[in-house]
Amino acid sequence: MTGSGLKRVLITGATSGIGEGLVNLYSKAHHVVACGRNEDKLKRLEAQNVQSLKFDMTEKAQVANAFSDMEQVDIVILNAGVCEYIDDALHFDSELFERVINANVIATGYCIEALLPKIKLNGQLVIVSSSASFLPLPRAQAYGASKAALSYLTRVMQVELENIDVTLVHPGFVETPLTDKNDFPMPFLVTVEKACEKIYEGVERRKKEIHFPKRFTLLLKLFSLLPFSLWLPLAKRIKR
Ligand SMILES: NC(=O)c1ccc[n+]([C@@H]2O[C@H](COP(=O)([O-])OP(=O)(O)OC[C@H]3O[C@@H](n4cnc5c(N)ncnc54)[C@H](OP(=O)(O)O)[C@@H]3O)[C@@H](O)[C@H]2O)c1
Repeated sequence: MTGSGLKRVLITGATSGIGEGLVNLYSKAHHVVACGRNEDKLKRLEAQNVQSLKFDMTEKAQVANAFSDMEQVDIVILNAGVCEYIDDALHFDSELFERVINANVIATGYCIEALLPKIKLNGQLVIVSSSASFLPLPRAQAYGASKAALSYLTRVMQVELENIDVTLVHPGFVETPLTDKNDFPMPFLVTVEKACEKIYEGVERRKKEIHFPKRFTLLLKLFSLLPFSLWLPLAKRIKR
């Protein structure tokens, strides 16, 4: 952090949904580096005094190249992600599975490798997983598995890293282009503004975990502690 309190904050998935909401919040008081692929959106952000980096996170060379000459940053928020569901459990779509695991897990690994040396001493690393990682949910063979992997990875980074505070984010349903595609009821859906406020506050406090809305995430956490046999019939009912 500079003497004035101005921080350099890098956000992936900055061109839409939660990432875009975080850019709006952070850019009020800090210098933001916004990452994504959508050129029009990135240009619009540049017009708002936000620095932009365009690259596909699933391409390792692009990720390394994007950050090679970048200045040190105070906060890295790895938020970019995709969600696709497997509709027919009997016909497992391994291409879909690969796409989701690549975008949510492998690509995050590329970013961590390239960005860890760029985080200042006592800086912060924030990883956006999902409350879908708490329990097995219908059609979430790919998405849920990718987010469970991300949560585990983040927890290990919390164990391993000294001098960098790591925060794991577990959102419930948030109203974004990602969830606009969902054709099922989304309990306790929150606005992107509310979600971003929660993330912003939690990151300020260097929390180990940020999860919201509590009445949803605490319920899921409770079920995850109980015997699986109690969750299974409920999950099957949700499926129907
Ligand atoms: N919305 C929810 O209810 C919810 C709940 C729990 C967790 N989450 C997690 O929150 C994060 C943000 O979700 P969202 O709802 O804001 O989604 P979104 O509106 O669809 O935004 C996804 C962002 O990820 C970027 N992205 C995707 N693939 C990329 C790639 N290969 N390379 C570079 N950027 C890529 C997109 O950038 P471009 O379009 O520019 O490529 C976009 O900015 C995700 O990790 C998601 O899993 C969301």
